[in-house]
Amino acid sequence: MIAKTNWAGFLGTGSFAPDQVWTNKDLEKFLDTSDEWIRTRTGIGARHVAPKGMNTSDMATEAAKRALEMAKVKPEELDMIIVCTLTPDTTIPSTACIVQDNLGAVRAAAFDLYAGCSGFVYGSVTAAQFIENGIYDKILVIGAEVLTRVINWKDRNTCVLFGDGAGAAVLGKVQEGYGIYGVDMGADGSGGKYLTIPASGVAMIPTDKLREEGWTYAHMDGREVYKFAVKAMPGTAERALERSGMTSDQVDLLIPHQANIRIIQSAAKRLHIPMEKVFVNIEKYANTSGASIPIAMDEANRGGRIHHDDIVLLAGFGAGLTWAGLVAKWF
Ligand code: ACO
Repeated sequence: MIAKTNWAGFLGTGSFAPDQVWTNKDLEKFLDTSDEWIRTRTGIGARHVAPKGMNTSDMATEAAKRALEMAKVKPEELDMIIVCTLTPDTTIPSTACIVQDNLGAVRAAAFDLYAGCSGFVYGSVTAAQFIENGIYDKILVIGAEVLTRVINWKDRNTCVLFGDGAGAAVLGKVQEGYGIYGVDMGADGSGGKYLTIPASGVAMIPTDKLREEGWTYAHMDGREVYKFAVKAMPGTAERALERSGMTSDQVDLLIPHQANIRIIQSAAKRLHIPMEKVFVNIEKYANTSGASIPIAMDEANRGGRIHHDDIVLLAGFGAGLTWAGLVAKWF
């Protein structure tokens, strides 16, 4: 077994998605697309859409409350809050600070983490370091996004792929031999151009003109991202397993980033993990970026797909480009 002073694990999970759902058929009404094209190319059937006035912090707060309740942890016990998002309410204050205030988590340090769709795994790895080295006890990690406001609803290449939602987990000290084993994180900034929102920072301050020209929306080279994803997701999973001293046949449940069912199937095949051991909910949510893995983890947890002693493998890839994998023995 890996030698560690403290073991960090997931104590509770929670998720939230807005009530409003747009099916592929709904998109057909205003876009040159079809349910058949979207389903066969991506596995997506619908996506949740945050109504006007509901922001990333609102959904993050709801998901967090559910995770705290399951973990039986009070907000004031939290030492740190990490919100993983590429759609913060504002750049300042951070969404994590807004959530800290909403929850009344008065003792918690709070910051946002930008790692695209790999964000929740990056965040969980970061949180685990503080717990394992004994600095902190209880850390809330949230992935939350309102992507439907940063996509161009006239661009069928991108808009059909994304949805809104939030997922959260409370991490804390667990019994020796449980919780997080091996992890992997990486990035290839040279591929950043394949998925970008050009007018989203100081390099190109958003103006009405830039908005009209579409620069404030997500631009993606789908084929390049696809080529990257089918290598990055199984690669990071393999490295996380290797660092855990485990092999893929020991995995009870793979929870991959939900971007495209074909990417998920390809990764599962390369990892020799049968699809019965892969959690998939892309049909209902589409790609919720940083929220995708924690929403799936919460659904799997509450739906009885994860049991005490199970080996759970998280694997993500995303904008940046980034990737991250994590192996945990469920507490
Ligand atoms: N409806 C109908 N037709 C469409 C649509 C649509 N919504 N979108 C594109 N098309 C058309 C294209 O215009 C193209 O037509 P053409 O051949 O006449 O030019 C045709 O469909 C085929 O396009 P392809 O690019 O070959 O389609 P592909 O099979 O590659 O699927 C897709 C496209 C789904 C985007 C795929 O490339 C993909 O999933 N890539 C990865 C995307 C991804 O994972 N993004 C997120 C990663 S990071 C993050 O999560 C933030």
